[in-house]
Amino acid sequence: MTTIHEAFAPVKWEGDSLLLLDQTRLPVETVFLSLHTSEEVWAAIRHLQVRGAPAIGMAAAYGLYLGVRNSEAADSSALWNQLLEQADYLATARPTAVNLFWAIDRVKARVQQEGEKPVDALKAAVLDEALAIQREDAEVCRTIGEHLLTLLQDGMGILTHCNPGALATAAYGTATAPLYLAKERGWNLKVYADETRPVLQGARLTAYELQQAGIDVTLICDNMAAMVMAQGKVQAVIVGTDRVAANGDVANKIGTYGVAVLAKAHGIPFYVAAPLSSVDLETPTGADIPIEERPAEEITHGLGKQVAPDGIKVYNPAFDVTPAEYITAIVTETGIFKPEDIRNSKQ
Ligand code: MRU
Repeated sequence: MTTIHEAFAPVKWEGDSLLLLDQTRLPVETVFLSLHTSEEVWAAIRHLQVRGAPAIGMAAAYGLYLGVRNSEAADSSALWNQLLEQADYLATARPTAVNLFWAIDRVKARVQQEGEKPVDALKAAVLDEALAIQREDAEVCRTIGEHLLTLLQDGMGILTHCNPGALATAAYGTATAPLYLAKERGWNLKVYADETRPVLQGARLTAYELQQAGIDVTLICDNMAAMVMAQGKVQAVIVGTDRVAANGDVANKIGTYGVAVLAKAHGIPFYVAAPLSSVDLETPTGADIPIEERPAEEITHGLGKQVAPDGIKVYNPAFDVTPAEYITAIVTETGIFKPEDIRNSKQ
């Protein structure tokens, strides 16, 4: 029987190609794209056909393999140079999720470790490392879920934002992992999914995957979160992240910061689920995190329909930074950390 995690796996290596579940078409159509070149992977990342920090990293790792597998490099150093070129190229797909750079660096480190082996062995190592990244991500997410579950109780209302779900990872999601584990244990959590303007990852993806899993999920517009909290329907907020800075500031989908402020105002704990691949101790503070700006059409032509006047000025940052002071805890596969202690997560 196909599990929900297999059904929603955003990235799959099958035969000799990369299969991506096209997330721009969900929930209406389930279409798998078969990709054969690093250029196709770059475009799929840029256009959100694969999205969510861990999934972007996984796709880029496979993209590196697609970029070198037909190489006619004469020796290991020629292949290495081609790998570096592909790495620099794929790193330009999107700027905020550090998982993209983490995965690329991990593949590079693996090839360096292999040393001066024959070119074919190095190509095989690239694919092997991409497969390992994907395999490990599923385990990491489950462990994050186990830790988060210790902070929750049966019957709670949980609010989440964007899609930190199975569709964004190898399995379970990060912020959704405790929801899947709670379901396995027969708990009844009541989930509120923010729709997540402008491209609606909450409505199209989170609401869909949780509904398919039989989890009690209610979709709300982003501007309803305050009301839902004031009504006492939410006992914890759990979100994912694209990058945690060394001081505990957290970048995540635009709107997350507002949710954190609201949670604090209502005395509701605000948890961030963060695999170590999203923790970037090289970035000192949230102000140092590059924030992607996306095309105006995402706002002016939401889902293809014009909803704003021609020529209107638009500002469309895809992420915001939640300052550490609004965060109750950051939960990684190594445990539960106060944001100011996030350095300890990697020790
Ligand atoms: O623009 P997206 O859809 O890639 O943004 C995704 C998010 O902001 C997620 O919350 C984040 O990547 C964590 S996914 C486990």
